[in-house]
Amino acid sequence: MDGVDTNPAASVEGCSFQPLNPEDVRACLYKAVDFITDYYTSIESMPVLPDVKPGYLRNELMASPPEHSAPFDVTMKELRTSVVPGMMHWASPNFFAFFPSTNSAAAIAGELIASAMNTVGFTWQAAPAATEMEVLVLDWLAQLLRLPASFMNRTSAGHGTGGGVILGTTSEAMLVTLVAARDAALRRSGSNGVDRITRLTVYASDQTHFTFFKACRLTGFDPANLRSIPTGPETDYGLDPAKLLEIMHADFRAGLVPTYICATVGTTSSNAVDPVGAVADVAAMFNAWVHVDAAYAGSACICPEFRHYIDSVEHVDSISMSPHKWLLTCLDCTCLWVRDTHRLTDALQTNPEYLKNDATESGMATDLKDMQVGVGRRFRGLKLWMVMRTYGTTKLQEHIRSDVAMAKAFEELVRADDRFEIVVPRNFALVCFRIRACGAMTEEVADEVNHVLMDRLNISGKAYLAHTVVGSRFTLRFAVGSSMQEERHVRSAWELIKKTTTKIIEAEEIMQ
Ligand SMILES: Cc1ncc(COP(=O)(O)O)c(C=O)c1O
Repeated sequence: MDGVDTNPAASVEGCSFQPLNPEDVRACLYKAVDFITDYYTSIESMPVLPDVKPGYLRNELMASPPEHSAPFDVTMKELRTSVVPGMMHWASPNFFAFFPSTNSAAAIAGELIASAMNTVGFTWQAAPAATEMEVLVLDWLAQLLRLPASFMNRTSAGHGTGGGVILGTTSEAMLVTLVAARDAALRRSGSNGVDRITRLTVYASDQTHFTFFKACRLTGFDPANLRSIPTGPETDYGLDPAKLLEIMHADFRAGLVPTYICATVGTTSSNAVDPVGAVADVAAMFNAWVHVDAAYAGSACICPEFRHYIDSVEHVDSISMSPHKWLLTCLDCTCLWVRDTHRLTDALQTNPEYLKNDATESGMATDLKDMQVGVGRRFRGLKLWMVMRTYGTTKLQEHIRSDVAMAKAFEELVRADDRFEIVVPRNFALVCFRIRACGAMTEEVADEVNHVLMDRLNISGKAYLAHTVVGSRFTLRFAVGSSMQEERHVRSAWELIKKTTTKIIEAEEIMQ
């Protein structure tokens, strides 16, 4: 067909198909922008959790692909009537689950423009501005995080051996650094082959995101050599370096090769923090790679008062954090910095004939394909640059501080009601709490009661929370930080929690 039919009355016969006809682009995007702004205007009144069952969408939309063109308005109507009602509204100010998926006007604009340009930045030559913007914005963010100069891109004037890359997810950051650490360990043990891979061991606390152990399996580590180190309340669920040392020593004595440690700053379950400096000290004894996963909490470290959580980062090999979680930059945007980019590129570099070019050969250009799994790559740096350029450090810090202040206010409300307990100390903007077991209510019954509370809150559509298990107790997670959230949303969620709890406890007492 012709271009997008934005005018149902317009004749399309005889036109050639021009999918990027500028006037069609303008018409479609105006409609999309109207949709987005209407969506944000009404999102607060929509149930956070949709009332749909698996498979619902197949009954709503055409079963077979449409053969003929349709006015763009028809497409938008189906989006409104069939898709929106099945959406979990992560952008809702009543969303308190998981970690927030933050966003901003500048980020959406950046994503839109990057999609329009649709550049494929595998090498500097293929996308000079996109490559240089990614390098620059990573250096900017590294400066906000006060990462040592050694993590700055090696092409930046006066800076060191390191550099960064923007990936889609933390899992990819783990995967590429695991590959680099694996290859370095194999080289050190005198083999580039895979025969010694069965001797390599990796370490992380039992609170580490499960995706780490998946990345280890994908990298070829023997599942028997993945050490998940138990944590407990005595370290607030952070990794105990003494236990780490003991386990690494035992492996070393058994002829194994300690290769990689993943330390988390802000675990998914309860926001526990592994002690970066102490972990790096232990790793140094075995020449093991240390990666810091600060997917969520890394954003907070742009504020001086939270920076201490990554103190000693100069002694680790790599660190990653995801601005798509808490730095107002829409999915997907995970920033990875490594102290020695050569260790990454040695493992991931490719040099096919058809990508050879003068810039690469000059050694002056960064080819970002050599720091990731795939070849093609999106212009992710643009949205991050637009966020940082538009809001500036001050506003970004304000945003983090305001979320933390709201979480603190919520925590105080919970503490003031003796039916509840705070399960672990709050570090950032996540509050882990539960209805406490008291009187005739055992811990096991309290687990069930908390589960019922979560289900009732979520079904109400007025708030959405997720749970975790801390020290074998069912715990509610209240994650503040959705970009449209204000204190009134936190307060009304608390009112709902209290009211629902009263009803559940009364019913529980009647049953006894
Ligand atoms: C601390 C931490 N690490 C890793 C992940 C996994 O991130 P991704 O989905 O980007 O791979 C998460 C996700 O929430 C996380 O919180």
